[in-house]
Amino acid sequence: MRVIAIVGSIRKESYNLKLAQYMKDRYQNKLDIEITNIRNLPLYNEDIEKETPEAVSQLIKRVKEADAVLWVTPEYNYSITGVLKNAIDWLSRGEKVMLGKPSWIVGASMSMMGSIRAQNHLRDILISPGISSPLLPGNEVYIGLVHEKFNETDLVHEPTIAYLDKVAANFITWLEQQVRKN
Ligand code: FNR
Repeated sequence: MRVIAIVGSIRKESYNLKLAQYMKDRYQNKLDIEITNIRNLPLYNEDIEKETPEAVSQLIKRVKEADAVLWVTPEYNYSITGVLKNAIDWLSRGEKVMLGKPSWIVGASMSMMGSIRAQNHLRDILISPGISSPLLPGNEVYIGLVHEKFNETDLVHEPTIAYLDKVAANFITWLEQQVRKN
């Protein structure tokens, strides 16, 4: 099954990007995770949406072709990042490719809370009419103190890895049901 990962941080050394890369490798036998870059998206502006900028068209196409979206979110000031909200605003327009598209949310932050407030906001956004994306209930992944749980590239905190594996297995079972339903 194809999953497009949308990472809410655009910095090169982002832990959330590393988390997406780690998940892509670890679950490669079961999920084909493609990581997209939202760095080049222009700011959403209704004045330019009719000529759809190329970076936006590419994102819409990749989301359309995927069976699910994996949101990998940091937390900025108790919410999702501006770049992530911008990407979601683009996806809520035109063909509205998110409607009915299953989502999976994970996230990491340097505080103890592991992006919980950002994920709560993201869940609210995902039920808005322009997105309406189903989510597997429960199975929430908050990776707090992320700087202590990664080495240069990989997640190395065994309890977190074991929990992520369990959630990934639940997500795959659920996604298979969602795909069969549609
Ligand atoms: C943060 N950070 C942060 N962390 C958190 O747990 N709650 C928060 O509200 C915030 N707010 C916040 C605002 C801004 C502007 C920055 C730059 C950072 C810290 C954040 O968790 C940390 O920088 C992460 O490393 C960001 O994720 P990436 O870029 O590593 O994926």
